[in-house]
Amino acid sequence: MEAYSEKVIEHYSNPRNVGEIVDASGVGEVGNPVCGDIMRIYLKIENDVITDVKFKTFGCGAAIASSSISTELIKGKTIDEALKITNKQVVEELGGLPPVKLHCSVLAEEAIRSAIADYYRKEGKLTEDEIKAKCGDTASHCEDCHH
Ligand code: FES
Repeated sequence: MEAYSEKVIEHYSNPRNVGEIVDASGVGEVGNPVCGDIMRIYLKIENDVITDVKFKTFGCGAAIASSSISTELIKGKTIDEALKITNKQVVEELGGLPPVKLHCSVLAEEAIRSAIADYYRKEGKLTEDEIKAKCGDTASHCEDCHH
């Protein structure tokens, strides 16, 4: 069995930004049909900048560590910067994940995209096609593990 990096263990043991934002600008919830884990991300967006982010993840340790590091990655970033974050980047920031756990990091990328899509829908300025073009269809697209 492959060991988890210290960073994964540290984020799992002491996750950042856990909770919810009551008046969130956008909320994204994604689930992995294979393992049944669920990740929810709440964003507060002001002038295109993510000023606050919280998450709730009902999932494995790798999913919790991925959520935690993702909230740190996107806090203070613009929407466009946050949309560029990939699961690969999440894995790199975590110092790697065992191959069977790579799909857990995909949840984080998808949850961010889905929360931003929710924000755009609430804002009502973009059409559904434009939102899809920006945020993807938030369907699973892990390049490494084919989940
Ligand atoms: Fe389901 Fe990690 S095993 S997200």
